Amino acid sequence: MNSPLTGWASEKVWSGRGRRIFMQEVGTRDGLQVEPVFVPTEDKIALVNALSAAGLSKIEVTAFVSPKAVPALRDAEVVLREIERRPGTVYSALVPNLRGAERAIEARADELNLVMSASESHNLSNLRMTREQSFAGLREVAALARTAGVAVNLSLSCSFGCPMEGDVPPQTVLDWCRRFVEDMGAHAVTLCDTTGMAYPTQVFELTRAWRASFPATELTLHFHNTRGLGLANVLAAVDAGADRFDASLGGIGGCPYAPGATGNVCSEEIVHALGLMGYETGVDLARLTAAAAGLPALIGHEIPSQIVKAGPRLALHLPPADFDVIRQRALARTSPC
Ligand code: COA
Ligand code: ZN
Repeated sequence: MNSPLTGWASEKVWSGRGRRIFMQEVGTRDGLQVEPVFVPTEDKIALVNALSAAGLSKIEVTAFVSPKAVPALRDAEVVLREIERRPGTVYSALVPNLRGAERAIEARADELNLVMSASESHNLSNLRMTREQSFAGLREVAALARTAGVAVNLSLSCSFGCPMEGDVPPQTVLDWCRRFVEDMGAHAVTLCDTTGMAYPTQVFELTRAWRASFPATELTLHFHNTRGLGLANVLAAVDAGADRFDASLGGIGGCPYAPGATGNVCSEEIVHALGLMGYETGVDLARLTAAAAGLPALIGHEIPSQIVKAGPRLALHLPPADFDVIRQRALARTSPC
């Protein structure tokens, strides 16, 4: 509908009208991977179970990477094997190579999340390979997953910019995605803003171009709130037709190989905001917030979450103890102050 004041046609994003948005939790992977403390395995399992109970549609449980590279997730097998499997939730795991894929399939991952970067510098820093080497390796991983009957998602890091190279041309992103879809048979792709360089105009344009290029492929957007643009980017992507978002409990997270990286967009903040606007996420905000409130005790520091700090919008506070006195005094005043 056109606004009578501006003639601007893009109002639909402000009103969800029951539209379904799928929230995918990455806190136990993207979140915990950078924490210097090792969160005990039984606490990780309890956290994943709490996230399942809160109704998230997908949970990236852990990563099957080198335990030397990411010691925080060295218990990946045990966590994935021992969590409760809630029907309807997809339990995913990040996998960088064949070795990781074999481990993840053995541990009964529902989905392998394969990762490479749109930026050569970031791919070399993060995965120690050129992009072409990564692509060749991931194609083998995808073939193994297909044989094992396990779903595959392709995540493209630095799709909105690289902390070492700067802007990444949208065409580079679309070209890699075309190879994922056509040469690797990918049914699902995630565009990752690994270090929080995305901004709403860019997000809207890239999301729209991506959807026009790959109408039959499932798209997820993965934003970090590094520069405070997280929620604005989510809404820009929704406006361009996206309906799947990664987010992390408490807003924790960040890539260990990306300078200046900070947490993902915060799950409870996004669920809270989308709920107010009439979107349907299927997530129980109270349960999600309760799980987030337990994080500082697990990781030993405060978390970015504004919802844990302030509560939801209608978490009302008692008036001051002398409220009646204040009211009586105000009513007794004869002239305005
Ligand atoms: N699971 C367990 N161990 C693995 C592994 C996997 N998926 N992949 C490699 N390893 C081990 C190898 O066995 C080897 O161990 P060793 O030193 O005891 O012999 C060691 O890791 C190095 O293996 P190599 O094949 O030489 O890999 P590399 O040094 O080139 O590292 C990665 C490549 C990608 C496996 C490694 O850097 C990694 O896991 N990085 C983590 C990336 C990440 O999680 N980033 C954040 C998310 S985007
Ligand atoms: Zn990330």
